[in-house]
Amino acid sequence: MQTVAEVLAGHRSIRRFKPDEIPQAVIDEVLREAIAGTSSSGNLNSYSLVLTRDPERKRRLYELHGEQDFILQAPLVLTFCADWNRTRAWLKLRGARDNFNNFLGYHVAAFDAMLLSQSVVLGFEARGYGICCMGTTLHAMGEIAELLGLPETCLPVTTIVVGVPDENPGKRDRLPLRAFVHDEVYRVADTPELEDIYREREVSGWQRYMSTPRLKALCEQGGITSLAQFYTSPYKYDPDAFGPESTRLLAVLQKSGFLPASLDTAVPATQEK
Ligand SMILES: Cc1cc2nc3c(=O)[nH]c(=O)nc-3n(C[C@H](O)[C@H](O)[C@H](O)COP(=O)(O)O)c2cc1C
Repeated sequence: MQTVAEVLAGHRSIRRFKPDEIPQAVIDEVLREAIAGTSSSGNLNSYSLVLTRDPERKRRLYELHGEQDFILQAPLVLTFCADWNRTRAWLKLRGARDNFNNFLGYHVAAFDAMLLSQSVVLGFEARGYGICCMGTTLHAMGEIAELLGLPETCLPVTTIVVGVPDENPGKRDRLPLRAFVHDEVYRVADTPELEDIYREREVSGWQRYMSTPRLKALCEQGGITSLAQFYTSPYKYDPDAFGPESTRLLAVLQKSGFLPASLDTAVPATQEK
């Protein structure tokens, strides 16, 4: 087995998979280790995982995750849920006061679930499997919750696909350490520092997107000429969509019992797309 440092050094997201199944014993071992080896707020373990292997259900998840086709290829899809349902049922059973059906509760559970997901990633990668995280979970939270039959105060926060890699992509760069680390107090980067921090990323990131003919054509049509412009263009993280989607997210949290029913979560008509 590789060391944690070796697993991290070898990480790259995998988006093409062989059809090989992952043995149940391996899945159980990875999950048991990850749960035992990850800190958990109050040791309340406020998460659940839903394993999807059934092709029909994977197809539905594929639709909900913006048709990212590696969902169909990967033999295993794992949805990590922020879950207070089980704990709250236990509290009730023992005559304890109810809690966690609130916004703070959602955050506590969501962070626990996200921490667990990274441990699960490390466990699979250490055994030679490839993974890709799926942020699209947050864009279809309500629909995924419905598909997976999630109860009250239980919502999906992230998803990983796992399988035997059928590609060997290079390692992607990160911004230099000085971009993230502050000594004692936060220091906002000035323009020359920003130029310096993003110099290499602007070249590598732009080249990567422009190597996809479809994206290149879209950028040319839309007059998008830099990586920064691409990121908040209609083709990536579109601010015109994020506003109304945020409001819809509040409605999902409300429906699940994490926000009070009295909160106004109606999407303003002008923001509808
Ligand atoms: C929370 C989260 C959500 C992500 N969502 C997606 C996704 O929906 N589709 C995708 O192809 N990659 C997704 N990724 C993978 C990132 O694109 C990838 O981690 C990043 O480009 C860095 O590449 P690397 O993982 O190979 O180092 C996600 C990663 C994270 C952490």
